Amino acid sequence: MLSAYNIIAKKRDGHELSEEEIKWFIAGLTEGRIGNYQMTALLMAIYLNGFNTKETAYLTDAMLYSGETLHFEANHVVDKHSTGGVGDKASFILAPLAQACGVNVPMIAGRGLGHTGGTVDKVEAIEGFKTTLNLKEFKEMLEAHGLVLIGQTGEIAPADKIIYGLRDVTATVDSIPLITASIMSKKLAEGAQGIVMDIKVGSGAFMKSKAQARKLAKSIRQTGLRFDRNMMTVLSDMNQPLGNAVGNSLEIIESIETLKGNGPKDLTDLSVHLAGGMVFLAGLAKTHAAGIRKAKEALKSGAGLQSFKEMIERQGGNSKVVEDYGILPQASHHHVVAAPRAGFITKMDATRIGQHCVSLGGGRNKAEDKIDFGVGFTFHKKIGSKVKEGEPIVTIHHNENQKELAQKITDELLQKDIKLGRQKPAKIAPLIYETETSWS
Ligand code: URA
Repeated sequence: MLSAYNIIAKKRDGHELSEEEIKWFIAGLTEGRIGNYQMTALLMAIYLNGFNTKETAYLTDAMLYSGETLHFEANHVVDKHSTGGVGDKASFILAPLAQACGVNVPMIAGRGLGHTGGTVDKVEAIEGFKTTLNLKEFKEMLEAHGLVLIGQTGEIAPADKIIYGLRDVTATVDSIPLITASIMSKKLAEGAQGIVMDIKVGSGAFMKSKAQARKLAKSIRQTGLRFDRNMMTVLSDMNQPLGNAVGNSLEIIESIETLKGNGPKDLTDLSVHLAGGMVFLAGLAKTHAAGIRKAKEALKSGAGLQSFKEMIERQGGNSKVVEDYGILPQASHHHVVAAPRAGFITKMDATRIGQHCVSLGGGRNKAEDKIDFGVGFTFHKKIGSKVKEGEPIVTIHHNENQKELAQKITDELLQKDIKLGRQKPAKIAPLIYETETSWS
C-alpha cells in the first residue's frame, strides 16, 4: 500500500523513489488527498537528498499530466524560456524574429517572481493586450499566425502552481530537480517540438555560479530528451541587468527600439543568439550560426518589428505603441543618479536593482499587488564603463509621492549596489558563456 508517510520517509533517508510513488504523490496533491504539509516535507527531502535523472523525469511527467497538454498540427514549433533575470525582455525581440524566419512560437510566459520581472506583466503595459486566452484560442492563434503570447493558465500543469507556491515560502526554490520539473512540465505541456532554454548565471539569477547553471542545463536537456524534444541550453550572464531598461513600460520601449535596430548591444546580441537557436532547432537552418544570420536579417529588414506589431493587434493591444511610446503608462518624475567621483563601474547588483524596482511598484510583494507599469530605471552605464564625476549613471522613474523613496534608492545604489573603482575591472563576464544542443 502506498502512503505519503512512507514515501516522505524513503526520500528523507536518501533512497530513490519509484515512478509509481512519485506519480501517486503528485496525483494525490492535485486531487486534494495529500496535504500541502506532506508535499512540503517531501520537497524539503528532495531539496536535501536530490533526485536522479529518472526521478526528475517521473516528477516532470506527473506534473505535466496534472493538466492539459497541447499538440499542434503545425511544424517548426519552438519556444524559448528564461530562468529569470532583471531587465530580461529578450522574449519580445526573439519571438517575433523567430516567427519572421518561419518558426511557430507558442509562448506561455510568467509573471514577475521575487526580484525578477515577468514577460506577462511587461506586455500588459500595452493597453488592451490580452494575455488570458484559453488553450483553444491559444492553439488556433498559433496555427493561424505562428506567434502567440499568453500567461500561465490553470489548465497547464496545475500541480506546478501548488508546488511553486509551497517552494516559494519554504526555502526550496533553488533545487535543480525541482526547477527542472517546474519549468519542463509547463514547457512540455505547451506542445513545442523544440525548446531553447536561457539559463541565467550570476548575482541576479537563481543560479549564482556557472557550475550550478551547467548542472541545471544538463538536467533540463536530459529531461527534454526523455520527452523527445530538441533542446538548446544557453548559459548567459545576469551579473548586471540585461540592456539598459528595468521596469515594465521602459522595457517595452527598449524592446521596440531593439526591433528597430537601435537596441543596446547585449540585448540585441542575446536576442539574436536565442532566436537563431530557435530557427536551428526548428530545422529551418543547417547550423546555429546560419540561424543567427537569418534572425539578423529579420531584424535588419524590419520583419521582426512587423511581426511584433501584428501580434499586439491580434491580441487586442494598441499597436500604435510601436510609433508612439507616449501611450504607455509613464512615471511623472525622473531622478538622475550621478557619479560621486570619476572611475569605472565595477559592479551593478542585479538582484538589488530588481528589488528596488519592486519597491517602486514595478513588481509585486504580494500576489494581489497591482503593478505600476511606468516606474523603473534607465541605466546609462554598464559594468566596465568609464564615468566622469557628476555624469549620470542611472535615471530613476518614479511618481510624485515617491521622492523620498527615490532618494533612499539613490543612497543605496551609490553606497552598496553600484561600485565605482579606480581601474577598469580586469575581467568582465561574457554575455554568453556556453551553448549546448541536444537532438531527440
Ligand atoms: N521558473 C519556474 O517556472 N520554475 C522554477 O522553479 C524556477 C523558475
